[in-house]
Amino acid sequence: MQFFIDTANVDEIREAWDMGIISGVTTNPSLIAKEGKDYMKTLKEITDIVDGPISGEVKASTTTAEGMIAEGREIAKIHKNMVVKIPMTTEGLKAVKVLTAEGIHTNVTLVFSASQALLAARAGATYVSPFLGRLDDISTDGITLIEDIMQIFEMYPDITTQVICASIRHPMHIVECAKTGADIATVPYKVLMQMTKHPLTDIGIARFKKDYESVFGK
Ligand code: E4P
Repeated sequence: MQFFIDTANVDEIREAWDMGIISGVTTNPSLIAKEGKDYMKTLKEITDIVDGPISGEVKASTTTAEGMIAEGREIAKIHKNMVVKIPMTTEGLKAVKVLTAEGIHTNVTLVFSASQALLAARAGATYVSPFLGRLDDISTDGITLIEDIMQIFEMYPDITTQVICASIRHPMHIVECAKTGADIATVPYKVLMQMTKHPLTDIGIARFKKDYESVFGK
């Protein structure tokens, strides 16, 4: 399973990229708004840091296929690595079909059921993003959704759509997603940092330092 970072914060993206742990980036309107910077410029800045797929979403206020197609073409023009993120609606599916035919990569977002994922795949989406954390939030098992999608996609070799596990809330989500064989998890910076930690690692480093210094000095 590969990791994308789920943020529009360029400092976090640079830090994760420099650690060699991420292969791409996902953003969404909420994440871009949080940074309070120009939308297209922020996406361009991200392409200067990361050499991998970068999802930029069509505007939250755009609801027609025509509007999404026009915006998708503009997002794709930013850089060859740009992926157009499109909401899982009937208009969104039409936009995916057109953009895919033009060779533009798409990521269908806000997927909450296996049937939605299957439709997105059939429309030609490069990626689908099922949101497990938001399902867990309403007492529905998010991991079961990922398992169902993986099981279905594996049964149909003509489906090439990759699954991005999204709305990740903690490191155990990552472990559970990896066990399903999912292609990618898009992970907030905070969770990536939590994944690096183990109390026995910290204790081990302190003990090695103490033992070394007791013989060789500082
Ligand atoms: C996915 O691409 C979304 O940006 C993201 O994972 C949503 O996560 P949230 O439910 O924590 O907002």
